Amino acid sequence: MEVLKASNLIKNYSGLFNYNSQNIINGLNITINEGEFTAIMGSSGSGKTTLLNMFSGVDKPTIGDVEIMGLNISKLTDDERAVFRRENLGMIFQNFNLLDDLTLKENAALPLVIQGKKREEIEGKVEELFKLLNIYDVKDKYPTSVSKGQGQRAACCRALITNPKIILADEPTGNLDSKAAKKFMSYMKLINEEKKITILLATHDSIAASYSSRVIFIKDGNLFAEIYNKEDDKKFHNRILDCLAIMGGED
Ligand SMILES: Nc1ncnc2c1ncn2[C@@H]1O[C@H](COP(=O)(O)OP(=O)(O)OP(=O)(O)O)[C@@H](O)[C@H]1O
Ligand SMILES: [Mg+2]
Repeated sequence: MEVLKASNLIKNYSGLFNYNSQNIINGLNITINEGEFTAIMGSSGSGKTTLLNMFSGVDKPTIGDVEIMGLNISKLTDDERAVFRRENLGMIFQNFNLLDDLTLKENAALPLVIQGKKREEIEGKVEELFKLLNIYDVKDKYPTSVSKGQGQRAACCRALITNPKIILADEPTGNLDSKAAKKFMSYMKLINEEKKITILLATHDSIAASYSSRVIFIKDGNLFAEIYNKEDDKKFHNRILDCLAIMGGED
């Protein structure tokens, strides 16, 4: 089943009628199926964040449509898109965006607190997710007194707590050292496999991308190539490196 379909997507920050400006995203088509774990790669400035922002409804395409679970979110008002995002999508960012004055548990619980959910339901969900991501023993600590990897996994729990259909992650390992990054990605893979959640993740890091099952390379505003992980992760990593080399290097 298709969970996300982008058709003839064009993004131009200067507006539609500025013919001299270049389209950041230039007529891109893509379909993401339920349960897929897709990494988006491309050099800095190639439009990865721009693309994720259109997929999440944070930003609107200049032209084209983004359908999520059959709903054309490009046709919704800003307020409607915000509600849709809150109810259906989970977002993870490079800098975690955790509130320093709240414990990890309180941070993760926040979306459900805002929704007015019952305490027992929130406690149960926090326990399940914190145990799954192996941070249950640090749940009462503050973001500044845990490791970056633990902080990002708490941010991941916050993204998962509303049972989203899709997780969108923009450079989630960008602030982690390589060991923490690998650990984080192995948990992303676990979530994808155990909870069948569709994951779409932008990354510069070829090792991080090798944990996914499909890598999409973007260049000059469009799809340059895409490859599927049909073998072991090491071989897949080598193929990712080959594609990056053909495309013009990893930066
Ligand atoms: N709000 C904006 N207004 C104007 N131009 C923008 C805006 N946001 C991004 N751009 C431009 O769009 C292009 C794509 O940016 P984007 O942030 O999507 O790239 P990226 O692939 O995520 O890069 P990075 O890997 O550095 O995060 C860049 O040239 C950037 O300068
Ligand atoms: Mg970016």
